[in-house]
Amino acid sequence: MQTLLLFFNICIAFSLVFVEGVQSVHYEELSTLLMIKSSLIDPSNQLEGWKMPSNAAGNQSLHCNWTGVWCNSEGFVDRLHLSGMNLSGNVSDHIQELRSLSFLNISCNMFDSSLPKSLGSLTSLKTIDVSQNNFIGSFPTGLGMASGLTSVNASSNNFSGYLPDDLGNATSLESLDFRGSFFVGSIPSSFKHLHKLKFLGLSGNNLTGRIPREIGQLASLETIIIGYNEFEGEIPSEIGNLTNLQYLDLAVGSLSGQIPAELGKLKQLETVYLYKNNFTGKIPPELGNATSLVFLDLSDNQISGEIPLEVLELWKNFLTGPLPESLGQNSPLQWLDVSSNSLSGEIPPVGLGSLPILQRLELANNNLTGQIPDDIALSTSLSFIDVSGNHLESSLPYSILSIPNLQIFMASNNNFEGQIPDQFQDCPSLSLLDLSSNRLSGKIPESIASCEKLVNLNLQNNQFAGEIPKAISTMPTLAMLDLSNNSLVGRIPANFGTSPALEMVNLSFNKLEGPVPSNGMLTTINPNDLIGNAGLCGGVLPPCSTTSSASKQHENLRIKHVIMGFIIGVSIILTSRDGFLHWEDGCIKRWYLYNSFFYDWHNKSNKEWPWTLVAFQRISFHQ
Ligand SMILES: *[C@@H]1O[C@H](CO)[C@@H](O)[C@H](O)[C@H]1NC(C)=O
Ligand SMILES: *[C@@H]1O[C@H](CO)[C@@H](O)[C@H](O)[C@H]1NC(C)=O
Ligand SMILES: *[C@@H]1O[C@H](CO)[C@@H](O)[C@H](O)[C@H]1NC(C)=O
Ligand SMILES: *[C@@H]1O[C@H](CO)[C@@H](O)[C@H](O)[C@H]1NC(C)=O
Ligand SMILES: *[C@@H]1O[C@H](CO)[C@@H](O)[C@H](O)[C@H]1NC(C)=O
Ligand SMILES: *[C@@H]1O[C@H](CO)[C@@H](O)[C@H](O)[C@H]1NC(C)=O
Ligand SMILES: *[C@@H]1O[C@H](CO)[C@@H](O)[C@H](O)[C@H]1NC(C)=O
Ligand SMILES: *[C@@H]1O[C@H](CO)[C@@H](O)[C@H](O)[C@H]1NC(C)=O
Ligand SMILES: *[C@@H]1O[C@H](CO)[C@@H](O)[C@H](O)[C@H]1NC(C)=O
Ligand SMILES: *[C@@H]1O[C@H](CO)[C@@H](O)[C@H](O)[C@H]1NC(C)=O
Ligand SMILES: *[C@@H]1O[C@H](CO)[C@@H](O)[C@H](O)[C@H]1NC(C)=O
Ligand SMILES: *[C@@H]1O[C@H](CO)[C@@H](O)[C@H](O)[C@H]1NC(C)=O
Repeated sequence: MQTLLLFFNICIAFSLVFVEGVQSVHYEELSTLLMIKSSLIDPSNQLEGWKMPSNAAGNQSLHCNWTGVWCNSEGFVDRLHLSGMNLSGNVSDHIQELRSLSFLNISCNMFDSSLPKSLGSLTSLKTIDVSQNNFIGSFPTGLGMASGLTSVNASSNNFSGYLPDDLGNATSLESLDFRGSFFVGSIPSSFKHLHKLKFLGLSGNNLTGRIPREIGQLASLETIIIGYNEFEGEIPSEIGNLTNLQYLDLAVGSLSGQIPAELGKLKQLETVYLYKNNFTGKIPPELGNATSLVFLDLSDNQISGEIPLEVLELWKNFLTGPLPESLGQNSPLQWLDVSSNSLSGEIPPVGLGSLPILQRLELANNNLTGQIPDDIALSTSLSFIDVSGNHLESSLPYSILSIPNLQIFMASNNNFEGQIPDQFQDCPSLSLLDLSSNRLSGKIPESIASCEKLVNLNLQNNQFAGEIPKAISTMPTLAMLDLSNNSLVGRIPANFGTSPALEMVNLSFNKLEGPVPSNGMLTTINPNDLIGNAGLCGGVLPPCSTTSSASKQHENLRIKHVIMGFIIGVSIILTSRDGFLHWEDGCIKRWYLYNSFFYDWHNKSNKEWPWTLVAFQRISFHQ
């Protein structure tokens, strides 16, 4: 019925073309839009306003005022911006009739059809963005003829088939984003003509073959993100001709051979991801000449030998002393990750704490010895410190937990001893504290309860004594607490179970005694999280007196709780202000598909490091 009405309307529209004469050519555009609408599924009625005017003799460019439609000065449709509208169905062939269309954005919708081949005849297009949908089939060819085309974004879809090689003829292209689909085949050699291309994103597909030598001809390239494919062979040395290159991501693939020394020629190069390939040989000393380099990830390869002096010259400054002038004011270190290497010796005593914007310090799983230098505690920028899995000893620097932005501090599996610094009233951001498997002793300070954002506290496997601080039950966000394998004594505090956010608790293998309070989450706690405390009884444990009333009801509750605890446990996620996964313009970002999340935050315009650790069920409060 509706279709019939629409058809009727369109007929009127066309008859008017003849009545009204030249000006009515705009009715063609108007009816084209109505036909485009008729093949869309629009559950939230975003395009409600797209309808034939009741007064047909009225304004003939009425469609220029419709949602998502912009016209040029002659009244022809110039821009269609229909992103984030929950649209699905089909992109109609009629779209080719919008001859003046220069901007098409249908990103962040729910399309799961294929794009019409006719899209390729829209040769006025300058920008096309179909990203963040579920489009299938091949990407239409033809846009190579669009001489003004500067930007194609087809990322995060389910496209298959080959990359459209005719795009090599669209020599105005500056940005090509085909990340996150199922494209196969190799990089078309025709792409070598794209001399203006600044951004090439092909990561997260099923592309194969070698990286073509011709890539060295794309002299404008600033960003190459082509990892997470099945590329093989060596990195062509011609990559050293890309003098504007700042960002190179070739992570995860089957690339092999040596890392080309020519990378050292790239003075703009800041970030290089080569992890999880099959590179062999040594790190070329020439890399030391890439003086803008602030991030280099070579992990999970077969690289041998020492880090050459020239590179150390660049990198040692990350470990000792002030930042060298050669690094430039604009590229100071934000993230130092040398975890899981074989670094030995001590952490240099001065320097790290004075790096002005160092946010992440990751030294985990090395062979480091000695103390954490006191100077780190002077940092105002650090938000993430992980020194777990070393042989560090002595006590923790007194004020380390007072670093104003510190959110995550992990120091497990070392030989730290002495007491925890009683500085909790000064740690406004701390959300995860893991000091497990050390030799820490003394009491757990009551002041820990002033850590208002603490979500996860792990002190297991130490020598803590004294009682569980009563104030723990007032901590607003504490969801996970592991105090197992210590020497804690006394009773479990009466209100403990009613801590507002507590989901997982492990108190096993201490010297606790007395009855387990029957309130809150303690009524459903898994008894395994209480075992090894000979003096504990009651609650979910065998009763303190001999009256055996182990109730089935408790058992059921317990199971429910354990399952919930498990779900929450695995769902603890790191969210940044940008979020791994969030809702924006009605569209879920799916960055985990291809790692480019890193690109977003590692960008120059970088905001402060915004990690917060939140329990899954609380995420909505943070949006
Ligand atoms: C989209 O096209 C397919 C195949 O041509 C058809 O079956 C389907 O009904 C169309 N959907 C809409 C909403 O027009
Ligand atoms: C355009 O739409 C707005 C509101 O949607 C309306 O107020 C305005 O009168 C319309 N203009 C024309 C020329 O139709
Ligand atoms: C018709 O509508 C367009 C778009 O809203 C507007 O720019 C134009 O001035 C209107 N023309 C008349 C004659 O009302
Ligand atoms: C899209 O759909 C979701 C759920 O179906 C709804 O919550 C959201 O508001 C819709 N967005 C728009 C822009 O209509
Ligand atoms: C398309 O629309 C989305 C959402 O509004 C926006 O984020 C994106 O930048 C747009 N694409 C282009 C190429 O303008
Ligand atoms: C392509 O679109 C996605 C999201 O729709 C966006 O995040 C990404 O930055 C875009 N690519 C480029 C090169 O702008
Ligand atoms: C590029 O354009 C040339 C000349 O117009 C044409 O011969 C060639 O087939 C085009 N290449 C592709 C891959 O479409
Ligand atoms: C593409 O890659 C994905 C993930 O790497 C894999 O599961 C899938 O089988 C591949 N598909 C093809 C057609 O090779
Ligand atoms: C590109 O690099 C190769 C190998 O590094 C070199 O032989 C060639 O001369 C360079 N081409 C240009 C145009 O600089
Ligand atoms: C890596 O290289 C080694 C020897 O060079 C080879 O045996 C192995 O199969 C390669 N692995 C991959 C994933 O290509
Ligand atoms: C580094 O660059 C300087 C000049 O910029 C050059 O003299 C030197 O040979 C280069 N070193 C390496 C190892 O390429
Ligand atoms: C640490 O050093 C010991 C010997 O001192 C060695 O056995 C061990 O493999 C080293 N660990 C790492 C991760 O290098």
